[in-house]
Amino acid sequence: MADQAVEKHFYDVVVVGAGGAGLRAAIEAHEQGARTAIVCKSLLGKAHTVMAEGGIAASMGNVYAEDNWRVHFRDTMRGGKMLNHWRMAQLHAQEAPDRVRELEDWGALFDRTAAGLISQRDFGGHRFARLAHVGDRTGLELIRTLQQRVVQLGIDVFMECTVTKLLTTDDAMVGAFGYRRESGEFIVWQAPSVILATGGIGKAFKVTSNSWEYSGDGHALALRAGATLVNMEFVQFHPTGMVWPLSVKGLLITESVRGEGGVLKNSEGKRFMFDYIPEFFKAETADNEEEADRWYDDHTNNRRPPELLPRDEVARAINSEVKAGRGSPHGGVFLDIASRRTPEDIKKRLPSMYHQFKELAEVDITKEPMEVGPTCHYVMGGVEVDPDTAAAKIRGLYAAGEVAGGMHGSNRLGGNSLSDLLVFGRRAGASAALYAAEKKATPPEVTDDALAQARQEALAPLERQGGENPYAIHAELQNTMNDLVGIIRTAGELQQALDKVAALKARIANLSVEGKRRYNPGWHLALDLPNMLTVSECVAKAALERQESRGGHTRDDFPKPTPEWGALNLICSSSDGAVSLTRQPLPQMPDELATLFQETT
Ligand code: FUM
Repeated sequence: MADQAVEKHFYDVVVVGAGGAGLRAAIEAHEQGARTAIVCKSLLGKAHTVMAEGGIAASMGNVYAEDNWRVHFRDTMRGGKMLNHWRMAQLHAQEAPDRVRELEDWGALFDRTAAGLISQRDFGGHRFARLAHVGDRTGLELIRTLQQRVVQLGIDVFMECTVTKLLTTDDAMVGAFGYRRESGEFIVWQAPSVILATGGIGKAFKVTSNSWEYSGDGHALALRAGATLVNMEFVQFHPTGMVWPLSVKGLLITESVRGEGGVLKNSEGKRFMFDYIPEFFKAETADNEEEADRWYDDHTNNRRPPELLPRDEVARAINSEVKAGRGSPHGGVFLDIASRRTPEDIKKRLPSMYHQFKELAEVDITKEPMEVGPTCHYVMGGVEVDPDTAAAKIRGLYAAGEVAGGMHGSNRLGGNSLSDLLVFGRRAGASAALYAAEKKATPPEVTDDALAQARQEALAPLERQGGENPYAIHAELQNTMNDLVGIIRTAGELQQALDKVAALKARIANLSVEGKRRYNPGWHLALDLPNMLTVSECVAKAALERQESRGGHTRDDFPKPTPEWGALNLICSSSDGAVSLTRQPLPQMPDELATLFQETT
């Protein structure tokens, strides 16, 4: 191919990202008759979805017959500290059971109850055991199933391609521009509908469960194309990541360990979570360990172990124990399943955890406790979308899964990401196909000028000499976000982070990369960095603005939630590279849903 050439493809719907949301969206768009392509940065099957190990939350009632979508809706809203978009939480709770059954029809092999139904396990913040699971490898099975279906349906997949720019004309999508990571060749997908399913932003932080792909691409692409982001200040630190060895610091330890009875202890051997039950959840004092084991009151007469408080509470508690000098040798705390379950049970219910610790840390979790600490796992903030259609603020642009905001409010409950991506992936695929069908008569046009500009922007770091090193800037950004925009935040530190991000933004204008376009990881990182800096600026700016603590946003200087802030979303928009914030009132929940919060059953 000549050096100036750009490979061109024409579709109705282009899906960017091949995690659960992207695959489910593509299946739906295809089934609605749209010519559909999936573009993914990595190989098919490698997605952060596999890190949602414990299960898919859905009120199927297989273990507790009294479970239903209303209770799931209420748990989700409470877990998100009522900042969730009520309509997203409603659709999610209503549709999740069908999405799980559909997955089973497509070949997913779930664990079973004694009665032969899909087994459902306990997770933090869920009133009933409702996570449909496959051992502790549920995300992997979900991806395997959807991927197999994508292949079976013959949907085109462009693997190892990065999208660097969304192309618009008159505020409507006309396609996406990117390059093949192996060869560096440029490529454009012309399409009236583009679905972002790019996942999260974890690689902006030093300690994270996310792998290299999660550099906030979808968030930044949407913002630059003119869409808006909602509530970017809310970042989830999963309470249990590995802390040792350093090479795997941040790697996820599934919440299923606690769901299966695992308990958290400090260096004094104390089960410290009892000291951190917030007033909101407090029940009367239990006077023995057995009773205490069933103890936190979710206000529905349902006692739960405090290790299964929502993730934000548990992560903050671990952080406090370590800061108070009661941490484990490598700066975490201890998670003990060995004294709670038989070795056979542990190997059967938590096989991946058993192997992960054996192979990576030489720890036998059937005999010894694990050392664990918080790890950046998920961003609740994301592209502002219409709840029913997943449409962003630009015509033809859709977002589903982690890259979309609103569904989880200020804190996501474990297990709700897999159900989220199935429910809203399907909805995004259907809406994108419908919109593309309406645009059939006026196919999108991408001008040569637009292509030349996108190409020039992508090549810039290769054409400069002696400029800034992308690896050095990435390391500085990750340290900044970890140290100044982490679990506990203050105005002073957030301002320092914003100053640092501004300085790094200025420096990336002078990024330079040695070598050519083929097999050049430095160039890939140079193109990811602007995205990571953009999302970091959004997170830090919104975190400074929100003067309260709620869910995945804790301000040391404003330690409580306030009713004023509980009624407000923060919306990020961008013009000429500058991010600005506006406050927006929460959508009003209808009375029939609001009354659910008065009920005690
Ligand atoms: O802990 C876990 O298995 C993660 C689940 C999730 O993030 O939903």
